[in-house]
Amino acid sequence: MTAQKRKMEHLEICLRENVEAEHNYWDDILFEHNALPEIDYDEISTQTEFLGKKLEMPLIINAITGGIPEAEKYNERLAKAAEKFGIGMGVGSQRPAFEGADATSYEIVKNHKIPLKIANLGAPQLVPQKKGSHVFTVEDGKKAIEMIDGDVLAIHLNFLQEVVQKEGDKNARGCLTRIKEFASAMPVIVKETGAGISRRNAEKLKTAGVKAVDISGVSGTSFAKVEQYRAVIQKDYLHAVLGTTLGEWGIPSPVCVLKSRVKGLPLVASGGIRNGLDVARAIALGADAAGIARALLKPAHESQQKLERKLEAISEELKAVMFLLGVKNIEELKKVPCIIVGRTKEYLED
Ligand SMILES: Cc1cc2nc3c(=O)[nH]c(=O)nc-3n(C[C@H](O)[C@H](O)[C@H](O)COP(=O)(O)O)c2cc1C
Repeated sequence: MTAQKRKMEHLEICLRENVEAEHNYWDDILFEHNALPEIDYDEISTQTEFLGKKLEMPLIINAITGGIPEAEKYNERLAKAAEKFGIGMGVGSQRPAFEGADATSYEIVKNHKIPLKIANLGAPQLVPQKKGSHVFTVEDGKKAIEMIDGDVLAIHLNFLQEVVQKEGDKNARGCLTRIKEFASAMPVIVKETGAGISRRNAEKLKTAGVKAVDISGVSGTSFAKVEQYRAVIQKDYLHAVLGTTLGEWGIPSPVCVLKSRVKGLPLVASGGIRNGLDVARAIALGADAAGIARALLKPAHESQQKLERKLEAISEELKAVMFLLGVKNIEELKKVPCIIVGRTKEYLED
């Protein structure tokens, strides 16, 4: 199974099947309505700065794809939209490009003026694996950034996915040391892929010198579920069972934001972000930006117009929520208290 074929299957499964966590924990985060907001809607600014870059709203299009012919369409559309809305964008894992795939689907991002461009490699490929696949060097990391004319390299943690995948890379020994090596040579963000980053891990990553973390927790896409669907197609009973059992594994996204905020370590909240209300919730809980992947996949698949309509809605939703809270800018939004109910409250009390 090549990385390219697997990438294609991931896209198709995410478009077709329900691979979401059964509970979206962002729904447990409520705001107190301000009936007397005492501001003019037109003075609201959603601008912010993240890693020294100015974003028109605190949003990053998270890593989705690259390295397969279909990826060109997605990355072209996402890059065009990221430029138009002045938001950050990450490409999907660039591993295929290092294994001989055509790099065009990544390189096209270069054609767009995006305020923050994020390259992407996987932590499991930073250490030797049994099947003897290529171990990324620091030079590869720099090449990945150059490939997209990027600002920073995201190293993704996806051991939930790897453990449910028949051909998964299951050696995690030595990843932190390699992350430290990469972080001393280039700006690095470490991101999860839907299972969350704990406080202990966030602290270790800060000590390793990473510039930011993207906690990407439980609430949206579950890669255990994605792999479960792949295993069913392949009639692989064992991995289908593993995917079912671990389908909800991980730390809820809002819990990660609350618990894994480490002073001096900027934090992206992703995993289950669907709209501008979720973006506002993430910022009010303490994130510096929100990240979004699967909620953009279908519109990006359908057309440029649908993708831009979705992003326009997110921007207007965020502004509407800020208006109803009576806050004029992102700094003020960060100080708004939240009411935490339901399963997130129970989780935090435990
Ligand atoms: C089809 C698809 C492919 C993805 N590929 C990557 C990847 O290559 N690298 C990565 O860091 N994250 C990858 N992700 C994970 C997302 O960046 C994100 O962390 C995760 O999906 C949770 O966000 P969501 O709930 O908004 O989808 C992928 C997500 C999707 C839906």
